[in-house]
Amino acid sequence: MYLHGKKLEEIDFFRKLSVHGRKLGIHVLVFTPDDVDGDKVNALYYSMPARKWKRKLTAIPELVYDRSRYRGAQNLQKITKFRALHDKIRYLGRPLTDKWSMYQIMSGESDIAKHLPATVLYSGPEDLLRFLKQHQRIYLKPHKGTGGRGIVRLQRASDNVYFLQGRDRQRRIIPAQMIEEKEITEKLNGWNMEGQYIIQQGIPLALKNGRVHDFRMLVQKDGDGRWQITGCAGRVGPKKSVTSNLHGGGAAVPMDVLLTERFEDQSKVESIKEDAHTLGMKVAQFLEEHFGSLCELGIDLAIDPSGKVWLLEVNPKPSREVFSRIGEKSTYRTAVTRPLQYARYLFSRKTETEE
Ligand SMILES: Nc1ncnc2c1ncn2[C@@H]1O[C@H](COP(=O)(O)OP(=O)(O)O)[C@@H](O)[C@H]1O
Ligand SMILES: [Mg+2]
Repeated sequence: MYLHGKKLEEIDFFRKLSVHGRKLGIHVLVFTPDDVDGDKVNALYYSMPARKWKRKLTAIPELVYDRSRYRGAQNLQKITKFRALHDKIRYLGRPLTDKWSMYQIMSGESDIAKHLPATVLYSGPEDLLRFLKQHQRIYLKPHKGTGGRGIVRLQRASDNVYFLQGRDRQRRIIPAQMIEEKEITEKLNGWNMEGQYIIQQGIPLALKNGRVHDFRMLVQKDGDGRWQITGCAGRVGPKKSVTSNLHGGGAAVPMDVLLTERFEDQSKVESIKEDAHTLGMKVAQFLEEHFGSLCELGIDLAIDPSGKVWLLEVNPKPSREVFSRIGEKSTYRTAVTRPLQYARYLFSRKTETEE
């Protein structure tokens, strides 16, 4: 989807896809539903000799890597209309669903369920108060939210007194404030959380310096159509933040750096990484059985002080910049090329079945 002034959020990634695609014999075209005209599209392509983007009117590609981030109803409408009108197009992946439905679906698989923080749909302040009695810290998250927007954390300070802290819907930091239990309902009144939010057990993720952290794992299909863990990197939230998302000012840190800081025993570090790896593969296989063929997933993982791995969230359209930020160049390159290799695999299978 275009941003203001016809800018594209991930244009730099698209250039890399175009350059690597060329090497693999794949011609990459970039377009949004706004560029479609009948069965033609006025698409962008990256001209290597000119080193710039140009446009051409061409047929709509038969295989689409959907990177659209539709914030707002209007964008969603455009995408839905495009999908319905051009129903012959094949997609590399497919959309997942909201956080609450994802939780319910994944709870059905015991190997995944044991990694899920306790979660309920927010249906009123009673739920919240009950949950607060059971958990020392809780997260309130919009079930359709992304990028760490609109997230509130409540943390028990003493009997009936809590710290409230978070991010508003524009992702601005809400600094910590102490409130009494009886003030909570009133404080959250304007948020319209009923039916729109989940309440989730908070995993203790504060580092020694007080900042929160978590991990982003990238799981992708390779050129043989098999799932692989491409990489996993840590993210450390900025000061006073209850979220670690990079777009909210989080810093990328290698996984090993964070793990060895928190767990001195190397064999413990290895076993945590193995658990995370097993979980990532399980999640990819399970979600694919449930939703149909997928291409890649970005999995948000939390590791608590005992070393237990928790699954916070699964993203169907993950970014991969976390790996370039920590200087893992080859992981980053793999992260960019795997969707192309998988696309080539899908093309070759298509020709086989047609022959
Ligand atoms: N249950 C939780 N316990 C601790 N931290 C959490 C929890 N849920 C979310 N967070 C923090 O908030 C961030 C954003 O939450 P997430 O569920 O990934 O939503 P979003 O779609 O906004 O990224 C996480 O990356 C993590 O830093
Ligand atoms: Mg997330």
